[in-house]
Amino acid sequence: MTVQTGPGAFRRQAEPAQSIGYFGLLAEDYRSYKERLLAQGFWAIRIHRFGTMARHVRFAPLRIVLKIIHRIFSKLSQIFFGIYIGANAQVGRRCIIEHFGEIIVHSEAVIGDDVRLRQGVTIGNRSEEAPLDVPVIGNRVNIGAGAKILGPISIGDDVDIGANAVVLTDVPSGSIAVGVPARIKPKKPKQTG
Ligand SMILES: CC(C)(COP(=O)(O)OP(=O)(O)OC[C@H]1O[C@@H](n2cnc3c(N)ncnc32)[C@H](O)[C@@H]1OP(=O)(O)O)[C@@H](O)C(=O)NCCC(=O)NCCS
Repeated sequence: MTVQTGPGAFRRQAEPAQSIGYFGLLAEDYRSYKERLLAQGFWAIRIHRFGTMARHVRFAPLRIVLKIIHRIFSKLSQIFFGIYIGANAQVGRRCIIEHFGEIIVHSEAVIGDDVRLRQGVTIGNRSEEAPLDVPVIGNRVNIGAGAKILGPISIGDDVDIGANAVVLTDVPSGSIAVGVPARIKPKKPKQTG
């Protein structure tokens, strides 16, 4: 995924999650969650995918009805799971939400493929003066519990964000971001054998 951010430079990508269709995504999400139908994250993602599908329906009356249904289920997801994913957020394929509670994804946020996020994660703006300046997250990003990723920043591919990190700057691909405010460190090579 190519990401481009910065004030005024925010650009949404074509929605990659649309490429295999609504039912293709349903099957893929089910497999990604290892068939755990009771996982709250699975249902939160499904509700979000439903909303994305609804936005693309061409027949206006049907689109309006589906969007209202999405609104209702999205609210239920907030109340029962503590997971809010803004209706316009772009969520890539095989996104896993581990656990639940206090998870906020801003409506303008972009999340790549194979991203994992956990309880307490916020992906949103940094101030109310720039409400639409929000992060773009690359592919294979692993976001630790309680992490806050704020503002018009880009997180590259294969990044690990530490538990409770507050990330306020771009993070290059292949690095880790830890602490408050987050410091960028290179990933240590994994020891084998
Ligand atoms: C960020 C993370 C992925 C790094 O793991 P790792 O690649 O094995 O890296 P290391 O443990 O070698 O740590 C690298 C450095 O970052 C520091 N660090 C790691 N995680 C940190 C965190 N959450 N906050 C602050 N510093 C952290 C380490 O102390 C180390 O510092 P040093 O270079 O000064 O020695 C991991 O520590 C983490 O936070 N994972 C989140 C998991 C999670 O949320 N679990 C909840 C499950 S419910």
